[in-house]
Amino acid sequence: MSDKLIIFDTTMRDGEQSPGASMTREEKIRIAKSLERMRVDVIEAGFPIASVGDFESVQAVANVVKDSTVCALARALDKDIDRAAEALKGAQSRRIHTFIATSPIHMEKKLKMTPEQVLEQAVKAVKRARQYTDDVEFSPEDAGRSETDFLCRVLEAVIAAGARTVNIPDTVGYNLPHQFGALIKTLRERVPNSDKAVFSVHCHNDLGLAVANSLSAVLNGARQVECTINGLGERAGNAALEEIVMAVRTRRDIFTCDTRIDATQIVPASRLVSGITGFAVQPNKAIVGANAFAHESGIHQDGVLKHRTTYEIMRAEDVGWVTNRMVLGKHSGRNAFRARLQELGASFDSEEALNETFVRFKELADKKHDIYDEDLQALISETNLAAENERIKLVALKVCSETGETPNAAITLSVDGVEHRATAPGGGPVDAAFKAIEAVVHSGTTLQLYSVNNITSGTDSQGEVTVRVEKGGRIVNGQGADTDIVIASAKAYLNAMNKILQTSERAHPQAGQPI
Ligand code: KIV
Ligand code: ZN
Repeated sequence: MSDKLIIFDTTMRDGEQSPGASMTREEKIRIAKSLERMRVDVIEAGFPIASVGDFESVQAVANVVKDSTVCALARALDKDIDRAAEALKGAQSRRIHTFIATSPIHMEKKLKMTPEQVLEQAVKAVKRARQYTDDVEFSPEDAGRSETDFLCRVLEAVIAAGARTVNIPDTVGYNLPHQFGALIKTLRERVPNSDKAVFSVHCHNDLGLAVANSLSAVLNGARQVECTINGLGERAGNAALEEIVMAVRTRRDIFTCDTRIDATQIVPASRLVSGITGFAVQPNKAIVGANAFAHESGIHQDGVLKHRTTYEIMRAEDVGWVTNRMVLGKHSGRNAFRARLQELGASFDSEEALNETFVRFKELADKKHDIYDEDLQALISETNLAAENERIKLVALKVCSETGETPNAAITLSVDGVEHRATAPGGGPVDAAFKAIEAVVHSGTTLQLYSVNNITSGTDSQGEVTVRVEKGGRIVNGQGADTDIVIASAKAYLNAMNKILQTSERAHPQAGQPI
């Protein structure tokens, strides 16, 4: 039994399937670089058949990542597999992950296929994928609710067909830890050629058990865990990467395997993903929550001061908590700026793009004395957004807010290069600003979420605003950052508007019949 636990990150595939969490190509490149720095073994970059944009994102990730395997998802269909292979062409190390559902309910109601047809299609898919790469993974979707006998037959057949990894998904998060662990043990014992493949698990968190189920599987011989940063993913999410990695590392007395992850990259990656998706991390979230290492009660503080292990099982710095290190200031030059941005995984298509970010950095440094990594991350996001999809731009915003008076906003926007002005009253300055924007763009969207976080500490900190809007069932998130939170709010709202204007259709991997 191997002592290496393979970490397979699916933040950019399953994580991206969370409503509103879609990522642009540039954002995926930044996340991929951050995962590579963390020494993630396999990065699932997306589902290339979903759309041209998804294909290009997987292709871009495949072209930049060198030290991790890049994986693409494909239903058990020739066209999906061919597209995945095409997107992965530039990767140094590539994997095709193909899947088909095996539970009675999915086969009958979703696929409308017999078990024999499913088995045949699974084998055919693995063989086709093997024409492109030796590294093929197969998943029997909804394995957690599949019949064990049938699962054994499917796994034996796909391993014989060339699958090197067999991944057991608890697609709907239905299993309990003892049961899921037992399932892995049974499959390993009963599938005759089980020693020819790595057993992997992919658990969803509908009952809050994704991490517990994954760890139980590891104790029963699974040697790959599929997980996401911050536990992002469909519905209640997937198993959180940071929790899997730190549980296995902290409890070496129990686990006989470990990962190769550089845990100091965990907090920066968590922040990056949360900033890009707009999915805030709850303060009491294990490992990456703001309170994960904070001690409030006097008894705990006293204990930690006397000896930190009285109340701490991990060290904050080991998972990347460095407190707002000042990295650059007003007098920092272009070279220091470029070097730090490269360390943060930013890539610029041109010298102009770098210059533009440098100008924004100087503007920020005029307003804010100390510039932290988090400020730079926000600047990079803003520059990427501007380059990618800004049809509507903020030209000017003036908001009047006074005790006893109705706040009023006056806005100037550039829409496809033409300037438009509007004014609007509102319940507060942000409300007035959004109404003034709507008076120009008439988006027809419904605001679902508005949240503000300070990026660093102090009253001169930039406020980072996330908005989520919905239109015709389509949900997008928008982000904006500024030392003035009303301007940050307007930027976030416009970012969402710009995304809603890009009406690209995307297929969902797990929906409908795979024909
Ligand atoms: O949850 C699931 O079953 C999946 C598969 C595509 C692996 O995400
Ligand atoms: Zn999933």
